[in-house]
Amino acid sequence: MEKIVSFCKRKGFVFPSSEIYGGFANSYSYGPYGTELKNNIKKLWWKKVVQERNDIVGIDGPILLNSKLWEASGHTTGFNDAMVDCKNCKKRFRADHVVEEATGKDLEGQLEEMTKVLKEEKVKCPECGASDWTNVRNLNLMFKTEMNGYYGDVYLRPETAGAIFIEFKNIIDSMRVKVPFGIGQIGKAFRNEIVARNFIFRLREFEQMEIEYFIDPESKWEEIFDKWLEFQEQFAISLGAKKEDLRRYEHAKEKLSHYSRKTVDIEYKFPFGFSELFGLAHRGDFDLSQHSKFSGKKLEYFDAENNRRFVPHVIEPTFGLDRCILVALIAAYNEEKIDGGDERIVMKFPKHLAPIKLAIFPLLKNKPELVKKAREIFDSVKGDYMCEFDDNGNIGKRYRRQDEIGTPYCVTVDFETLENNTITVRDRDTMEQKRIKIEELKSFLEENLK
Ligand code: GAP
Repeated sequence: MEKIVSFCKRKGFVFPSSEIYGGFANSYSYGPYGTELKNNIKKLWWKKVVQERNDIVGIDGPILLNSKLWEASGHTTGFNDAMVDCKNCKKRFRADHVVEEATGKDLEGQLEEMTKVLKEEKVKCPECGASDWTNVRNLNLMFKTEMNGYYGDVYLRPETAGAIFIEFKNIIDSMRVKVPFGIGQIGKAFRNEIVARNFIFRLREFEQMEIEYFIDPESKWEEIFDKWLEFQEQFAISLGAKKEDLRRYEHAKEKLSHYSRKTVDIEYKFPFGFSELFGLAHRGDFDLSQHSKFSGKKLEYFDAENNRRFVPHVIEPTFGLDRCILVALIAAYNEEKIDGGDERIVMKFPKHLAPIKLAIFPLLKNKPELVKKAREIFDSVKGDYMCEFDDNGNIGKRYRRQDEIGTPYCVTVDFETLENNTITVRDRDTMEQKRIKIEELKSFLEENLK
């Protein structure tokens, strides 16, 4: 992880945020290459979820929403984590994590039991080694704020899902959707996590890509559930994850909420161990029924073919965007020995995710005719692909720079170009070069960057 974190800063993928002011609570900015990577992941998700399917529509709802929503969903009272403070070093921890790491006991949700274990078993503080704990208390994870013209607390949404459920009626009324259908959304979510850690894995401000998939309560939900699981695994693979680095973790029946029939996490083998990447939950009719109850509006679906009216059940595939970025970075990072004893760092992103698709080099910086030709090529492709122009240093160094940011192709304009309008195209992974005509470049890219 340390290598990835410092690499990301050095190469403009992810910066610690507010750094000139001494940092700010484990928050991060995506740098220019990180932003391109992030946008490419969002585009890929939208393409697979909304564009290529005819049963899912996309929306973009607000972060600030009527607080009744969070009462209805149970977040106001129940969206809590257990916290405990070390009285010696004053550090705050997730109590269930401290207990589990020290004793192997999973006591999530059992506050008194956790206090007892921490005190009786003299569990040591992971920070200072003392054993002097406060009682375990619940902390609501929603960020509170205020809004002019609105009485009472307002919250930054803790998940994007809420903004989807409250548009169910508008979607039914305005779009020609038929159950089963889904609503997808990408956007920010905020949680006042007790401990934000592991780089961009656990943040307080993060992005989710979520789908609420509405089904007939009488349909074979297991099949639909399994298809979504496969979809999620496939999506992780399209980020570069190896199949063997993924696993499914099914939540124990007794730990499920009363309305849920099944919840499975897709876990990825991060450098700090297998941890949740995506989640998939059967939520029954809980959300629509609750919003119906709290809003007084009927949230039903009318099946005209069978003259039936019902409240659909929901299957919810949820994807953490920042965790997708982390997987793409970890999976792509390679240190390789190359000919001549040299080493290179190469980010082997799947080509469709690479932040920069093409770099264009004039062989020599001080030959205006080479620079002019290279500029012409750059100008002709920059509208279609993210490109970089680089005339600095020897070609080997320029290749290394592009390898480090994962650019799939480098084009060099040399003296032969001036004679016969051909260029060399060098492949990031094989490091092989081939000569093609300038006019073939666009079709080459179209074919190879899919
Ligand atoms: N609507 C369901 C829901 O929000 P969740 O498991 O709490 O479920 C969904 O969150 C996904 O959001 C997770 O699988 C994870 O990828 C991502 N996520 C959750 N908390 C996060 C955090 N603090 N930082 C970064 N990503 C987070």
